[in-house]
Amino acid sequence: FPINEPKEMSWSFAGPFGTYDKAQLQRGLKVYKEVCSACHSMNLVAFRTLEGLGYSEAQIKTLAAEYTIHDGPNDAGDMFDRPGKPSDHFPAPFPNEQAAAAANGGAAPPDMSLLAKARGVERGFPRFVFDIFTQYAQGGPDYIHSLLTGYDQTPPAGMAIPEGTHYNPYFLSGVSLKMPKPLSDGQVTYDDGSPQTVDQYSRDVAAFLMWAAEPHLEDRKKTGFRVLVFLLLFGALVYMTKRRVWADVA
Ligand code: HEM
Repeated sequence: FPINEPKEMSWSFAGPFGTYDKAQLQRGLKVYKEVCSACHSMNLVAFRTLEGLGYSEAQIKTLAAEYTIHDGPNDAGDMFDRPGKPSDHFPAPFPNEQAAAAANGGAAPPDMSLLAKARGVERGFPRFVFDIFTQYAQGGPDYIHSLLTGYDQTPPAGMAIPEGTHYNPYFLSGVSLKMPKPLSDGQVTYDDGSPQTVDQYSRDVAAFLMWAAEPHLEDRKKTGFRVLVFLLLFGALVYMTKRRVWADVA
């Protein structure tokens, strides 16, 4: 049975001059916090980096303090709980990989810090061009969006779906996965008037995960563009110099 290609979406951060839509990232963070974080960790992302989403220092302090961080050992050698600080990372929902797998029918939900890149399918250009010009792997967010909106379909006749798995024709490593459909319409409340639909949630959380994996995307694009302009000017200069130097040689 074929696996469907992810649908190509248009993302604000695509293309050489693309930038993140901060309102969208904030909505995506809300979806992560209220839905995905029940199962998926995001170990590499520190609260303080959320300034990239447009939050002030005070807002980040409040947000971090909503979490309880298991810390220690202290001087007495004990572990203890304390409210989160901006320098903390998002706490994981399970103490370790085994516990995460045991709670999810044997498949541990992957850490989300780099998920948008891990599942990225490069298209259009070879990899090194992506790295210089930083039109990064759109397959990542496309895939996440397609996967999240790809439930609720009837499997083709004759396809056996293993018990405890859910049919999804976009899943990269098969046709059914252990993640149950995580989103439904109206589940997360948005206060900016954006549609509260599975499609919108999926776009927003995919954009947020792209940001988590590539927080410096915009800077990299800018640098890439400057490098290209420099190389063009420098190339022209070298060419003109060469013409001048060799002008008298017959
Ligand atoms: C796997 C996204 C919520 C449990 C995955 C994968 C993605 C993803 C992209 C990787 C699929 C692959 O391997 O190609 C999300 C998003 C969520 C969300 C964006 C929130 C909107 C949840 C929730 C649960 C969960 C709430 C638990 C009830 C799992 C499990 C897997 C998984 C168990 C591994 C599936 C397998 O390999 O069979 N998720 N997820 N996820 N997720 Fe989620």
